[in-house]
Amino acid sequence: MPLPTNPLLAELGGYPLAAFQDLARGLRADAGSGRPLYDFSIGDPVEQTPPFIRAALVAGLDPVSQYPTAAGLPELRAAIAGWVARRFGVAVDPDREVLPTAGSKEAVFHLPLALVDPSGPRRAVVWGDPGYPVYERGQRFAGGTSDPVALTAADGWRLELGDLAPDRLAKACLVWTNYPHNPTGATVDLDYHRRTLATARDHELVLASDECYADIYPDDAPAPPSLLQACDGNLRGVVVALSLSKRSGMTGYRCGALVGDAELIAAQRLLRPNVGTASPEVLQRAAIAAWSDDEHAAQRRAVFNAKRAVLLEFFADAGIHVSGSAATFYLWFAAPGGDDAAYAEALLKTRIIASPGRAFGPAGRDWLRLALVPSVDGCAEAVAVWRDAIAVGALPGH
Ligand SMILES: Cc1ncc(COP(=O)(O)O)c(C=O)c1O
Repeated sequence: MPLPTNPLLAELGGYPLAAFQDLARGLRADAGSGRPLYDFSIGDPVEQTPPFIRAALVAGLDPVSQYPTAAGLPELRAAIAGWVARRFGVAVDPDREVLPTAGSKEAVFHLPLALVDPSGPRRAVVWGDPGYPVYERGQRFAGGTSDPVALTAADGWRLELGDLAPDRLAKACLVWTNYPHNPTGATVDLDYHRRTLATARDHELVLASDECYADIYPDDAPAPPSLLQACDGNLRGVVVALSLSKRSGMTGYRCGALVGDAELIAAQRLLRPNVGTASPEVLQRAAIAAWSDDEHAAQRRAVFNAKRAVLLEFFADAGIHVSGSAATFYLWFAAPGGDDAAYAEALLKTRIIASPGRAFGPAGRDWLRLALVPSVDGCAEAVAVWRDAIAVGALPGH
């Protein structure tokens, strides 16, 4: 008997970055070569989670284990609202406008389940290509459709909602923006959020802003603004996804949040007990510690800045064209020779793993993404290997 399967699974194929994870695992397993591996492919840094956060986790372990609630611990909602107030200068109601999530990925994926009417005329999600694939995937699994907008270097990788034809916007119910942007590292100013919000409201679209990289930016650059700042106290139709993964080195803890329109948050609270994704309370206690402290986030920023400086100096010397790369721990560069897949393959021979831009959507073709994962010394070693490979002609210079 053929087992029932959702055809979407085959249609969407494997998760795009899974192939790179397999590749990296394969190369790591090949320890016998004695040659180090420089893995810049997956956005999962290896710096330690700060000790005070780990201590909060251990102290937070109750002898009795019970189900967590979809609404999360009130202290956690307050800690998230506290961070939003400190970081963005915006006051949000922790009880009505804040929802803790198990990381931001599941929040991004599940958001459309409470928004999309699978038989209605407005089912599309608008999102930027190249971009994080979950914007499309969540919408499709919720019975919606996908309407990616090709982003370009010339436009600073900005999704300009106002440039889209009105009939395109009329078919959509949701727009995702993501600045600081994965994979390009592009940023936007507050004015961008204001004009995007104005267009979204004119066309009665929910505007969702994925800000999981909000705290990863160069020391000499302004802190990236939030869509929440553009709302001037009126969160109608707006939701922002936040995360401790990047800010606090907690990818394994799965702690994030949705903040926004009380009605959208209420719909998620109604939806989520059906899904069962609430974060375990022991992890919520670690999250309270992390959201309540800014010093460790500043220290992490300094580490990424040191790595960024090493790579940017090399790119400048080698004449490799960098675009975006204004925040996040990603650097985005044009493939020397013009073909991202060919360049990634040539790099692999030197045991440097970079992601070809096409892994993030067709508009990422001919660009590559480096995630600043190796240590500062590891970055310097990788650069030396890279330079040598260019010098002997194993890699095109630019
Ligand atoms: C743009 C973007 N959004 C969301 C996520 C999910 O992060 P997490 O679920 O760890 O909060 C990622 C992870 O890499 C990302 O790049």
